[in-house]
Order: sequence, then structure tokens, then C-alpha cells
Amino acid sequence: MKQGKFITLEGIDGAGKSTQLAWIVELLQRVGIPTVVTREPGGTALGEKLRDMLLDGSLMIYPETEALLMFAARREHLGRVILPALKEGQWVISDRFTDASFAYQGGGRELDAGKLDILEHWVQGDLQPDLTLYFDVPVEVGRQRVSQGGSMDRFEQEQAGFFQRVRAAYLNRAKQFPDRIKLIDSSQSLAEVKAAVERTLQCVLNHG
Ligand code: TYD
Repeated sequence: MKQGKFITLEGIDGAGKSTQLAWIVELLQRVGIPTVVTREPGGTALGEKLRDMLLDGSLMIYPETEALLMFAARREHLGRVILPALKEGQWVISDRFTDASFAYQGGGRELDAGKLDILEHWVQGDLQPDLTLYFDVPVEVGRQRVSQGGSMDRFEQEQAGFFQRVRAAYLNRAKQFPDRIKLIDSSQSLAEVKAAVERTLQCVLNHG
């Protein structure tokens, strides 16, 4: 039986996940919860190599290959990092997980969701995050934040239409799994977003 909790963070590029990740870790550490912070694609030696390839803007990659590589990295991540940490009672906070595959490869690249369902079941069985925080921002806001950050990776270089589809797919999943995925309006001020994150986390802490 797993004992720790598995929390994932999602959002389009520029939604402000990284800032909130640091805040979540601070909140959990304040109440003495041991945390492991990780990310996807990545989190293992092989996963980080796959990440380098997946984000390399000079490579041409078919959508199917992209999805397979995301799930290949995920299989390593689950086996070597996520499941062992949960078993030890640590809480795992992952910057992205499978919802990103449904949003980016399913929505953005328009891959058939049925194929992703098969990969999901193959790689993770019934395992799902205990809580997913989805940081929602309009595409224009996300794109503006990303373009201020310097060089852009293979996904960040995509056009606005791609991110509209990614966002729509995330919103769709949030509707489909309302108990697990909590939507946070990330276009509010930083202080408001932090307060919303704290409230959501408090619910998990209070209700197990
Ligand atoms: P991101 O998490 O945004 O990292 P950074 O903040 O360092 O840019 O970058 C990872 C990219 O990978 C992001 O554009 C979304 C993409 N991605 C997928 O397309 N599918 C997936 O399954 C995952 C996990 C990520």
C-alpha cells in the first residue's frame, strides 16, 4: 500500500507552475511532510536524456514518437522515483505527469486519446495522482511570459493555435476528473494564486 501522496502540477507553458511548485514545497515542509520534488519528462537519468531530445527544437519528431518517448520516460520515473518514494511515506510533487500527455500530444498534436489511454494503462495501471493542480491562464498570457524568458524549446516554439488546443484539452480533463484535478486561475496576482494553492492543499491535509 502506498502511504505518501502524489501531487502533480499542470498548465500550458508560462502558466506559472514553477513558482507555485516552490510554494507547495514550502507549505508541506512547514507542517513537517517529507517531500520529493521531480518533473516530467525527466526525473531519472534516462528520463532527463529523453527530455533533452524532446525539447530540442532542431529535431523533427512524429506525434506518435513524442507520445511513446513521454511514456517511456514515465515508466522509468514511476519505477525508480515515484513509487519507491510513495512507499516510504514521502509525498511526491511532480512538475507535470500524464495529464500533460493528454493535453499536449492529445490536444496539441491531435493524437487519438484512445491510444494515449492504452499507453497510460500499460505504464501506470490504475495509479493516478491524489491531487492535480491545474494552473489555468489564457494562451496570450502564457505566451507572453514564455517569450520574456529567453530561448524557447520545441514546444514553446509552437503557434498560438497549438496552445489553444492544449488548454482546451486540460480544461476538458479538469471537467472529466473534478475530484482529482483542481483548477487554479493563474491569471490572478501572485498573492491570490498562492492563497488559492494554500486553500486547495489545506483540503488535502485536512481530509487525508
Ligand atoms: P516544462 O514543464 O514547461 O518545463 P520548463 O518550465 O523547464 O519549460 O517543459 C516540458 C515540456 O514538455 C512542456 O512544453 C510540455 C511538454 N510535455 C508534453 O508535451 N507531454 C508530456 O507528457 C509532458 C510530461 C510534458
